[in-house]
Amino acid sequence: MSNFVSLRDLDLATIDSLLDESEQLLGKGARGDELASSIVANLFFEPSTRTRLSFETAALRLGAQVIGFADARTSSDAKGETLSDTIRVVEHYADAIVLRHPTEGAAALAAEVCAVPIINAGDGANEHPTQTLIDLFTIRRRLGTLSDLRIGFIGDVRYSRSVRSLAQMMSQFGGSQVWIAPQDLQPEGLIDAPNVVSDRVDKLSDVISSLDVLYVQRPQKERWPDGLDVEIEVVDAAALNTAKDSLVIMNPLPRTYELATDVDLLPQAAYFEQVANSVPVRMAVLKWCLDQV
Ligand code: NCD
Repeated sequence: MSNFVSLRDLDLATIDSLLDESEQLLGKGARGDELASSIVANLFFEPSTRTRLSFETAALRLGAQVIGFADARTSSDAKGETLSDTIRVVEHYADAIVLRHPTEGAAALAAEVCAVPIINAGDGANEHPTQTLIDLFTIRRRLGTLSDLRIGFIGDVRYSRSVRSLAQMMSQFGGSQVWIAPQDLQPEGLIDAPNVVSDRVDKLSDVISSLDVLYVQRPQKERWPDGLDVEIEVVDAAALNTAKDSLVIMNPLPRTYELATDVDLLPQAAYFEQVANSVPVRMAVLKWCLDQV
């Protein structure tokens, strides 16, 4: 069994093989019975639509059964149970645990006490490794490579775990990164990677024509410190006039006002492709964690 807590724990060869496996599983009809004797528990202590439902679909498509909760207020968390006690209980009910939690480091802590694999479905502002695998898969399918790309992160790039995880991962493939955000939403430190050039700007128009990927992130207001009140730039079709035809426009979703719906019509829009890719990628992750890859 293997945990899937942080992409930092995985070498590039493993990531590559997970992406290849996802490719095999892509296609609406992809079904299997590799996990027919397994039970997957989805423990979601934070709101989720895509992550929880796509993990559930991925497990069902592999023949597994699914238990869990979508709202921690219906669990013993509401009675004051600690996360580690909850995990030590659920490990007796399930063969793998998918965990989303508001506390940074929650998945690592769970993995320390748990006898079955823990899959990190987001721990506070820290990491979202399966979203990153989906994002890598989507970029690779669109552009045929992950190497030497210029990626712009726009919006709330400070409090987003999806951005943090993807930036960290992309830094392994060289290229350059641009952070497009007002001062208050710029990341505190930039990615510390010797082979990556990183810039900060406050307007998309300064860089749009140079980008291969534009990753748009909604304000993560649930993590903002009290009193922070800042608007982010809206990405609409007009703002993309000088973009490359091959630009890949991404958003982990949900969107709020940061991405106008007129962008949906552009061939560069890839965010519903990210959604579609989430099922095969999460199937690959479940199989890998349960030793079926
Ligand atoms: C992201 C998350 O929860 O971190 N959503 C997701 O999992 N697709 C991003 C967000 O909530 O903005």
